[in-house]
Amino acid sequence: MKKVLVALLLVSVVCTGLFAGGSKDKAPANEKLVVGFAQIGQESGWRGAETTSITFYAAQNLDTIQLHFADAQQKQENQIKAVRSFIQMGVDVIGLAPVVETGWETVLKEAKEAGIPVIFVDRMAKVPEDYYATFIGSDFIDEGEKAAKEMIRLLNGSGNVVMLEGTVGASAAIDRQKGFLDAIAAAPGIKVIARQSGDFTRSKGKEVMESFLKSYPQIDGAYADNDDMMLGAIEAMKEAGKKPGSQIKTVSVDGVMGIFEAMVAGEANVTVECNPLLGPQFFQAAADLKAGKSVPKWIKSNEDVYRQETAAADLPTRLY
Ligand code: AHR
Repeated sequence: MKKVLVALLLVSVVCTGLFAGGSKDKAPANEKLVVGFAQIGQESGWRGAETTSITFYAAQNLDTIQLHFADAQQKQENQIKAVRSFIQMGVDVIGLAPVVETGWETVLKEAKEAGIPVIFVDRMAKVPEDYYATFIGSDFIDEGEKAAKEMIRLLNGSGNVVMLEGTVGASAAIDRQKGFLDAIAAAPGIKVIARQSGDFTRSKGKEVMESFLKSYPQIDGAYADNDDMMLGAIEAMKEAGKKPGSQIKTVSVDGVMGIFEAMVAGEANVTVECNPLLGPQFFQAAADLKAGKSVPKWIKSNEDVYRQETAAADLPTRLY
């Protein structure tokens, strides 16, 4: 709790909050690394952990880093406004977690013309290669494949599965679903009987699962593009008198603390880790770009799979 309070205090010190009336002044010409970060919003515990990782790192390095942070409240138009405002400020580097894959060409062309390198953080966008310097994040297709292999194992190769999907058009959703569907095809006895977006939030995950439970009497497994939707789905299963983790097997992605607690309680089965603690790598890449050094086009995260059987031992080691 103490750690969370310290983090929140530091976050409030360092954030510019473009949508909360923060300063839009030009960054002072100084030796600091001046960075603008356009975050998606606060749709999940994972997103909160990523925001804390970035703002906390900047707060710990106030003597060398100046961070302008914008929370776009899940709206692409707000992210585009934030990027434009960073261009006007003349920041050294722009960090962007694109809420959806498409619709970025115009604004990123403006950044390129202004000579400001753009780093995609955690999600990718469909733009020409020379519109961004690097992508720091996970292999979402691989995460989906890992999730499917776990589901096949849990169901011994047969059963009815429902899919709770992330934000429509988001790379994290598109690629995880591709990976999951391609890999689940290895078990012809498993039928994906329903798919619907829960927008990566716990409340919508609950709503979607409630409607699945009403429409499909036999659900053996639930896959979710993130843990928050699964945590909502678990609530819906329990309210419907089902036993998540045994009667309905669960596999989701992220590795947030809440899903570990659910696994310890026997109410969830597997989480495929997706690392949100990208602050140190992000600022290192930004500093390298400012110094004119080259950075790899994809700085990939290393991630694991965690299961109910070891959750009690794993929980104390989790950082988010
Ligand atoms: O882009 C990463 C995804 O976005 C995480 O899996 C999800 O929880 C978040 O909202």
